[in-house]
Amino acid sequence: MDLRKQLERIIFKYEFVNGSLIPMLQEIQELEGYLSKETMKMVSDISGIGVADIFGVATFYTVFRLKPQGKHTIRICKGTACHVSNADLILTTLRNELDLEEGEDTTADNKFTLFEVACLGCCSLAPVIMIDNTTYGKLDPQKISEILASY
Ligand code: FES
Repeated sequence: MDLRKQLERIIFKYEFVNGSLIPMLQEIQELEGYLSKETMKMVSDISGIGVADIFGVATFYTVFRLKPQGKHTIRICKGTACHVSNADLILTTLRNELDLEEGEDTTADNKFTLFEVACLGCCSLAPVIMIDNTTYGKLDPQKISEILASY
């Protein structure tokens, strides 16, 4: 099914539901893993919702991704327990290993996307990262390159 038909199917499903823009965009985001400008314009075209309204919601809520994501998702915890266990050094090491420029979160080969999160719920393992669904705890900078090399 082409993208426009998939969008129509989702948009028509939400057509009469009040306050449905956010869940609708979340479902649309799952089609390609992010919301491209072209997709948002098509959503506006099909739904009649102003393109500025769609952009406004997509840029305001952190749940929406506006760029393609890497194959693997890395979440680094910046919560209190991890912060006091030197999470900043782990983050700097990760960004260096992944060769991420300031403001970038996805590697040039689209292999990894890095997110900073508040708490991963396993504070006793601080500092912690998660790659996809696997948790790595009690980290030090040396372990980071070994972990990344295993992907
Ligand atoms: S503060 Fe890092 S896992 Fe909770």
